[in-house]
Amino acid sequence: MKTVKSLKSMQRLAGRLKCEGKKIAFVPTMGALHEGHLALIRKAKKLGDVTVVSIFVNPAQFGPSEDFSKYPRTFKEDRRRLRDLKVDYVFYPDRESTYPPDYETYVNLEKMSKVLEGQFRPIHFRGVATIVTKLLNIVQPDIAVFGQKDYQQSVIIKKMVRDLNLPVKIVIGKTVREESGLALSSRNKYLDEEQKKRATVLYKSLMHARDMIRNGERNASKIKRSMRLMIDRMAGTKIDYIAITDDERLEQVRRLSGKFTISLAVWLDEVRLIDNISVFLGDEK
Ligand code: PAJ
Repeated sequence: MKTVKSLKSMQRLAGRLKCEGKKIAFVPTMGALHEGHLALIRKAKKLGDVTVVSIFVNPAQFGPSEDFSKYPRTFKEDRRRLRDLKVDYVFYPDRESTYPPDYETYVNLEKMSKVLEGQFRPIHFRGVATIVTKLLNIVQPDIAVFGQKDYQQSVIIKKMVRDLNLPVKIVIGKTVREESGLALSSRNKYLDEEQKKRATVLYKSLMHARDMIRNGERNASKIKRSMRLMIDRMAGTKIDYIAITDDERLEQVRRLSGKFTISLAVWLDEVRLIDNISVFLGDEK
């Protein structure tokens, strides 16, 4: 496994691999790797001839009061895990080369960046869309793998790839969870065992919603209200949003049918957590 730090070297290397007819599969990450990331990497390995994983904590996607400086950075441990998985290349650029002082170009989705997470993290998706575009231009993958865990991010990236005609296939890997149901996240490092127990209320509320739907409930407001009651009962929680949206435009659904996703963001003490489940209701005529 090779670690590549320079943007130019990575871009040249990718060009060379493509000339050789190799299919590049790419997994962008911010490091602090956990089983969720590793599952995406295993998926990427199956889909391409050469696997590239990037590790870059992207300052542009963190708001001024967010956790950029305290975000976990565990490069040595990450590299060991990637080596065990037999990843071909780790792309590990530095901040200065990625965003030089005169940097000024950003990619923004006019509508989709503003809803759900965007209401609470106004510059987040501009930062994500920008870094992902840059990484795709440097690594030039045939396939890029993202996680369902970050539902809005995955919808936005698919849309951006369509809107900008980027020559890459986006594949989404399912959310990996702890046995308790808690979705794996690098930010779970901020939680102690007792907080992790309380944090399972996110997944429990999603399972509760699924049960209501299985029992015939089709009114989105009723489901969201019931989830809200459940979460509010748990100590230390503060809900940012609970939403039920379609997966193409991220618009709120009122009456449930077809495919949609229930997503939520909840503060657990000082840690902000997100989770979601997608539901498909087959033909119901
Ligand atoms: P990061 O949070 O490190 O996540 C990297 C990838 O892993 C994302 O596609 C994310 O959705 C996926 N992932 C995270 N937790 C997961 C879980 N429990 N199960 C499955 N997949 C999971 O997302 C980012 O970094 C950044 O925004 C990035 C796309 C790298 C741009 O900076």
